[in-house]
Amino acid sequence: MPDQSPYFFIKEFSNEELMKILVAKIKELKESKADVESLNMKLQDNMAKLEELQQEIIQQRDNLKEEVRHKDEELLKAERLSAIGQLSARIAHDLRNPLNVISNTSKILRVKLEKHLDEKSSEQWARLDRAISRLSHQLEDVLDYVRMPKLKREKYSLSLICHDVIERIQMPSNISFHPPLKDATVFCDPEKMEIVFVNLIVNAIQAIGKNDGDISIEIFDDREDDSFVLINVTDSGPGVPQEIQDKIFEPLFTTKQVGTGLGLSSCKSIIMQHGGTISVQSSGKGATFTIRIPKNSDWDSMEARTNSVLASFS
Ligand SMILES: Nc1ncnc2c1ncn2[C@@H]1O[C@H](COP(=O)(O)OP(=O)(O)O)[C@@H](O)[C@H]1O
Ligand SMILES: [Mg+2]
Repeated sequence: MPDQSPYFFIKEFSNEELMKILVAKIKELKESKADVESLNMKLQDNMAKLEELQQEIIQQRDNLKEEVRHKDEELLKAERLSAIGQLSARIAHDLRNPLNVISNTSKILRVKLEKHLDEKSSEQWARLDRAISRLSHQLEDVLDYVRMPKLKREKYSLSLICHDVIERIQMPSNISFHPPLKDATVFCDPEKMEIVFVNLIVNAIQAIGKNDGDISIEIFDDREDDSFVLINVTDSGPGVPQEIQDKIFEPLFTTKQVGTGLGLSSCKSIIMQHGGTISVQSSGKGATFTIRIPKNSDWDSMEARTNSVLASFS
């Protein structure tokens, strides 16, 4: 009968052999302990690096937050200033006509009544005239200040303007942006056109909100008149309700709690300054803003004329 004792195997080894196995096992254990220790060190090292990285990311996030807050403040200030500008322009414009009436009537009356006036009344009348002329100069100054400055036009790529604008705007991660596949070169003021693209894209981002969505920009020649370029800015937001479509380009019209209602009105005046038009199409979901702007054949023909004059000299 074989031995069924649980010590059956142990009994097979001599003390010396057992000692050897034990020593070998201890050595193995020591080695793996060293391995574990070195792994532990590496892990601690990596943890420290990770913590450093985390701190860096937190710092960067805080910096970005601060930058966004600062930019928001700047934008709000600029929009407020622009609102004040527009209001002053309106008031100055409205005051100019009645002031002209006062000024002209005063002149006519003075001619008629001059010989009947005593010295004191004549002096008082002269004071009135000086006040009128001071007021009209002040009004002209205000109007000069808020009037649209002249465009600084140059031949410029529209897709380059788009590209620069997208670099500046932080596109939220829930929105896929599709840049224009085609380009067109137009004779425009690139800084002013940037303002147009910024306003349209910011409106599109605000319209889409937190849901997933798309914004795309297309550029193509107007098939009916190839001296014009069409630019479509389309978003997948809720769209512009029919009943407000003809109001949205008016200054100070807004449906937003913190809106100024000046974005689209600025776009419209800039595009009009370029001899173009801007319109909206929206039925149901999504909105497309279409800009139609001349490439400026005048510029091309002027360039051709200059070239032919230069050629005649050589
Ligand atoms: N992409 C868009 N989708 C839906 N509505 C829009 C869009 N763009 C503009 N609007 C509407 O037009 C209004 C005027 O826009 P805007 O002149 O830029 O002023 P603001 O953005 O300050 O409201 C907005 O309040 C909004 O109702
Ligand atoms: Mg806006």
